[in-house]
Amino acid sequence: MSEAFKWVAREGSAAGSLDVGDTVTLRVHENRTTIDDTKLQVHAVGEPILKGERVAGRHALADGEQAVKSPIKFAHVVLKTTRYSEMLEWWQLVLSASVRHGNDFITFLSYDDEHHRLAIVRLPHLKERDDSLSGVEHFAFTFATLGDLFSKYQQLKARGITPYWTINHGMNFSAYYRDPDGNQVELQIDAMSPQTADEFMNSPVFAANPIGVDVDFDALIARFEAGESAESIVRYPGYSPVA
Ligand SMILES: [Fe+2]
Repeated sequence: MSEAFKWVAREGSAAGSLDVGDTVTLRVHENRTTIDDTKLQVHAVGEPILKGERVAGRHALADGEQAVKSPIKFAHVVLKTTRYSEMLEWWQLVLSASVRHGNDFITFLSYDDEHHRLAIVRLPHLKERDDSLSGVEHFAFTFATLGDLFSKYQQLKARGITPYWTINHGMNFSAYYRDPDGNQVELQIDAMSPQTADEFMNSPVFAANPIGVDVDFDALIARFEAGESAESIVRYPGYSPVA
């Protein structure tokens, strides 16, 4: 299985103030080797969702078209596999999920009041995953607390399941894993309030590095267990919240 890309942002020209048209350089690494430097131009700033109208399609309406509502939530993901039992075991463990209904073809998993958050379908004819094809890069699940995320990391590590990437994104703080098929999933916590996340994502700090900074979970767990607060551990370097 090929290693996934790691995106490492470098200092860009966006500093002090941020505006549409500012450029930053995004460096793409693979196995510690730089494979690409990409100039990015900022397309949109200053439209934090909390300050704007929560109206679906407000950027996509044609003249005279009426706005319609957004979905109220993201509901579920369905994965297709040839490794049916292996995938079921992995996902139940990773999400601490239970089976709501299952048979030889499809199993519905959930961990909350949703009837299914994840379903796994067995299709024996499938080819192996091919990372050269377009498609989903990863999807993510949010834990309630840093302690819960660290506990899940430790539980998985004890079973030989380790993340390929651990990172502080600023507004979220994450560990990325691959399931037995190579699907990539992010386990995270929200590290900022919605308002602070809005401000952060419209700051020059975020424009210069929209990816984040790598972190060492084992080292941070040691600090956490020694009594350092979750707020201190997830604090994003170089960014001071406005409020
Ligand atoms: Fe993500």
